[in-house]
Amino acid sequence: MKLESLQLPPDIEAMVKNKRQTSIEDFGNLVGKAGYKPADQSIIHDAVIALALRKNILLKGPTGSGKTKLAETLSALFSQPMHSINCSVDLDAESMLGFKTIANEDGKTSIEFVEGPVIKAMKKGHLLYIDEINMAKPETLPILNGVLDYRRMITNPFTGEIVKAANDFTVIAAINEGYVGTVPLNEALKNRFVVLEVPYIQGEILKQVLLEQSQLKDEVLVNRFVTFSADLITQVKNGQISEEAASIRALLDTCDLAKFIPPLRAIQRGVIEKLDDDREKAAIKNIAETLFE
Ligand SMILES: Nc1ncnc2c1ncn2[C@@H]1O[C@H](COP(=O)(O)OP(=O)(O)OP(=O)(O)O)[C@@H](O)[C@H]1O
Ligand SMILES: [Mg+2]
Repeated sequence: MKLESLQLPPDIEAMVKNKRQTSIEDFGNLVGKAGYKPADQSIIHDAVIALALRKNILLKGPTGSGKTKLAETLSALFSQPMHSINCSVDLDAESMLGFKTIANEDGKTSIEFVEGPVIKAMKKGHLLYIDEINMAKPETLPILNGVLDYRRMITNPFTGEIVKAANDFTVIAAINEGYVGTVPLNEALKNRFVVLEVPYIQGEILKQVLLEQSQLKDEVLVNRFVTFSADLITQVKNGQISEEAASIRALLDTCDLAKFIPPLRAIQRGVIEKLDDDREKAAIKNIAETLFE
């Protein structure tokens, strides 16, 4: 994706280009690979504007809707290395900020602090990606409150160092609402983000993504999978099946399989067997049988 194609206001485009000049030193391998195709061009456009203005953005959408891919694409657009935190109930201050370790040099031992992703990204002015932000224990993330508001700083509890974020430091977080294991995001935390919805792509854009990213190159079959996905989304909207059944990730897996095995079997393994509810399984099987033999 070309920056120019986003038709950004000139001052924002200048900000992005300016940011790109940040030295990436040894972190070049942390710059994401582009490839996200938006359902609606405004998603990327507005994300770039928010990041250029150094606002934190929260990507909200179901599993396999391309949130991580979008974050990588933004990292690529800004040529900005990305450091990630994967939230889980085990996430603690150490895995975000870093930890102390004993170093041994020339027979002398000393205590060293190994910087974690938050501190690294802040100091270098890189991008911090906080994945599945609503999987963390509610008491873990408030430590980042100062990092995420106008103060853009933190006192490292392990070293006492006051760390101020470099100018280009920005944050992207992702959230899957309502899944097992997630907790509603604390209001004060949510309040620190600009929120962008990331829906499942459909139609022509989905077709392009399937043709580009899956092994399946048979256009007739790919078209049928696009229709299959549209039918699934209709059933999601009708409340007949759960949203993750329409995951683009699952569809990509299914298309890969369908290059080598009959499509119905691919759907069975790629989509249906992931669900627990027999009624949902039967509903999807029905849809599949009207489209494939
Ligand atoms: N709009 C899109 N453009 C390009 N690729 C997409 C898009 N949506 C989904 N994909 C592809 O689908 C797969 C899943 O995407 P990704 O891992 O980014 O989803 P996610 O929203 O981060 O899911 P999760 O919440 O489970 O982490 C990837 O292979 C990605 O390339
Ligand atoms: Mg993800």
